[in-house]
Amino acid sequence: MPTDSSSGRSLWDSVDAGAPTSRAERDVESVDLKKVYTQMKTTYGDIKKEVSRVIVGQEDVLEQLMVAIFTDSHALLEGFPGLGKTMLVRTIASIMDLKFRRIQCTPDLMPSDVTGTYIVEEDAAGRKRFRFEEGPVFTNILLADEINRATPKSQSALLEAMQERQVTMGNTTHKLERPFFVLATQNPIEMEGTYPLPEAQVDRFLLKIMVGYPNIKEEDRIVELYSGEFTPTVSKILRREHVLAIQDLSKKMPISSDVRDYALRIVAASRPAGKNAASQFLDYGASPRASIGLVLAAKARALLNGRNYVGKEDVKAMAHPVLRHRIILNFESERKGMSPDDVVNQILKDA
Ligand SMILES: Nc1ncnc2c1ncn2[C@@H]1O[C@H](COP(=O)(O)OP(=O)(O)OP(=O)(O)O)[C@@H](O)[C@H]1O
Ligand SMILES: [Mg+2]
Repeated sequence: MPTDSSSGRSLWDSVDAGAPTSRAERDVESVDLKKVYTQMKTTYGDIKKEVSRVIVGQEDVLEQLMVAIFTDSHALLEGFPGLGKTMLVRTIASIMDLKFRRIQCTPDLMPSDVTGTYIVEEDAAGRKRFRFEEGPVFTNILLADEINRATPKSQSALLEAMQERQVTMGNTTHKLERPFFVLATQNPIEMEGTYPLPEAQVDRFLLKIMVGYPNIKEEDRIVELYSGEFTPTVSKILRREHVLAIQDLSKKMPISSDVRDYALRIVAASRPAGKNAASQFLDYGASPRASIGLVLAAKARALLNGRNYVGKEDVKAMAHPVLRHRIILNFESERKGMSPDDVVNQILKDA
């Protein structure tokens, strides 16, 4: 638990003393935002330290996951099997004391397996009634593994819940709890028989996070950690209401018109009609949703790093995960073997 070094009191003492409430708004009110703000860097340091007990390396992936959670949005996660994706997300949920659920997407996954469904129940007197059985979307962090294996119908049930933060069945609307964070994984191999998410739907994910292989030193540590007698565990650093408060704060982070211009120039440079060097590689560019996303992501990154303003380096650091899934390379650049990240490098040079 992070502590205030001047008084020796826990950062969250003011919250812990309050009466427990269930309403998200009241929860946020009871959190001392200024304290959260001034100690965010320490808090993030503590989160990193806890995560490193079970996950070796992957610092960039962690930062991007934090940015996605604290901007109240969703993310795609791509990487080969066995890179610790599930373990990382599970660990984050546990550190933040959030509910966690996982769906394994397969072609026979039904929309109701995602959202939930009405079941018939009989009470003691033999009367029958309908009861809504909540599906896995009723959680705080949802890991949708191999989303491209689900059929378009089930994908759209999930995407609708993501967008509207509610599930509608017949005439009844069931609200999802906040925070609600969907992390959808895609496996870059074995594309056969899958249903890749359409571009319009991919745009709804704030970030596309790439998970890479550990280096030899990290791998040595992984083997050491997981081939021994004890399994490492983590303790809780935040609670749900803190996460909501941080989301609130992140939006309020000031950004100068200079830095905002820089973000807009980056997104503009991603469009094929532009006069930039990157334009020649592109068929389609990023939408205004990407501009909003880039600014929000940069704000959250600034907050995580304990600053009270957004710097150009925050925008720059978020450009790859915000843009890589929103630009479409043309035939010529694909032929040359360029990746979306190569084109984002060029976009950054142009901007
Ligand atoms: N960076 C890492 N730090 C710690 N453990 C790791 C790391 N990378 C892989 N592992 C270990 O590899 C194993 C597999 O991890 P996990 O199941 O989370 O992978 P995954 O990426 O979700 O795979 P899949 O795509 O098959 O679901 C775990 O036992 C985990 O401890
Ligand atoms: Mg997994």
